[in-house]
Amino acid sequence: DVDALVTAARDTGAGEAEAASRNEPWPNDPYPVGAERYASLRALLAGDLAADDVVATLEASGLRGMGGAGFPTGRKWGLVAGAEGDLKYAICNADESEPGTFKDRQILADQPHLVLEGLLLGMAVIGAELGWVFIRHEYGPEERVLCAEIDALREAGVIGPDACGSGRRLELDVFVSPGGYILGEETALLECMEGHRGEPRNKPPFPGGYGLHGRPTLINSVETFADVPVILQRGADWWGEQGKGDSVGWKFFAVSGHVEHPGVYCVPMGTTVRELIDQAGGVLGGAAVEAVQPGGASSNFIGPDQLDLALDFGTLAEAGTMLGSGALVVLAEGTDLLAASTNVLRFFRNESCGKCVPCRVGSTKAHTLLRGVLDTGTSTLDETQRARILQLEEAMRKTSICGLGQVALGPVVSVLGLDKGGAAAREQPRQPDR
Ligand code: NAI
Ligand code: SF4
Repeated sequence: DVDALVTAARDTGAGEAEAASRNEPWPNDPYPVGAERYASLRALLAGDLAADDVVATLEASGLRGMGGAGFPTGRKWGLVAGAEGDLKYAICNADESEPGTFKDRQILADQPHLVLEGLLLGMAVIGAELGWVFIRHEYGPEERVLCAEIDALREAGVIGPDACGSGRRLELDVFVSPGGYILGEETALLECMEGHRGEPRNKPPFPGGYGLHGRPTLINSVETFADVPVILQRGADWWGEQGKGDSVGWKFFAVSGHVEHPGVYCVPMGTTVRELIDQAGGVLGGAAVEAVQPGGASSNFIGPDQLDLALDFGTLAEAGTMLGSGALVVLAEGTDLLAASTNVLRFFRNESCGKCVPCRVGSTKAHTLLRGVLDTGTSTLDETQRARILQLEEAMRKTSICGLGQVALGPVVSVLGLDKGGAAAREQPRQPDR
């Protein structure tokens, strides 16, 4: 019984103190217990809320894509709404697979109503009738939660041929990923849904203009869609006030590695790395921090002198790393960073779809070199080996088609630039200033 196993796993050690430290119930939910949900969707379908106002509110809120890249959500919705064509689609990307990343899973389990309301709002705003949640195949319990919520919506007439009595058709379905990390890349996801081999397309064109079956398609991640009804219910100003400093809104983080209480935490954007580690009970056994990956396996490591960095898109990009997929991985003092980052590279090498040469060959060459070094019992590269890794990293970063190949060697190189008093010296690939 998968459900029972998952529940048991989640309950293991998750006592009241831990739940409190994770600040459950989640502070973002705009619907008090017992209140009627899907209020913004109902207002939009009733004509009490204009599609243009939804886009304007999202733009004013400063909401950015929480899948990892941080593209402004309001701008994306406006682009797809304005795209030519009367057939459009919307997809929620729930193929969360970045190592260390499991916050979308918690949102799907606990707040499916926010995820689906965001997706339905997106469909209504851009003029789509069909929407899908593309979900990771290992997320069986969450898939069942979603399907139950969709059935309840259909039963209540919120979706269907006459959604909320508006005369508009809104239909939802769940598409279970056949498996493979690369399918979380949005264009590989589209290829997969079209029945093709799941390989990324060249971008541009972006899915907002040329997406599923060549139609304009709105794709956002689970957390991004879930944030939309929160902002519409509570207002862009409220959202802005929730962040710390210049940061806006709430942010879910998966915290893992050497911390006392690994788990999912919802904290104000702009919370520092140190504060989040403290909220997760601190480093295991009270040890010092050796290094942290603040944004999942794709993000560059930062050192112990950078724990006061604010967890925010801009601050982390300036520091040479990224917010990425919202996954803070903590490594305690004494961890072999070259071994840890080589392990990350091994994952990317295994998951490379093989479409382009730099990624397919480069990740294998680099892993073979690093594994060979580690197998001799040392964690130090000589000058020739170091130069070779830097050369491979640059080639892969500049010439790979998609993010996987572009970032695969970033964490390794960031470790080469780390020292106890210093910082990750390398630039994180592709962090556009948005
Ligand atoms: P990207 O920068 O190519 O695109 C981000 C989003 O903005 C996409 O939806 C894209 O269609 C849209 N976009 C970008 N420029 C646009 C334009 N000019 N016009 C219209 N739309 C535009 O980044 P990508 O490759 O989609 O995502 C990379 C990120 O994904 C990484 O930073 C990583 O953190 C994250 N990631 C997350 C994983 C997870 O499990 N959550 C797994 C792997 C990576
Ligand atoms: Fe495939 Fe890697 Fe090329 Fe991406 S960079 S398309 S994963 S081979």
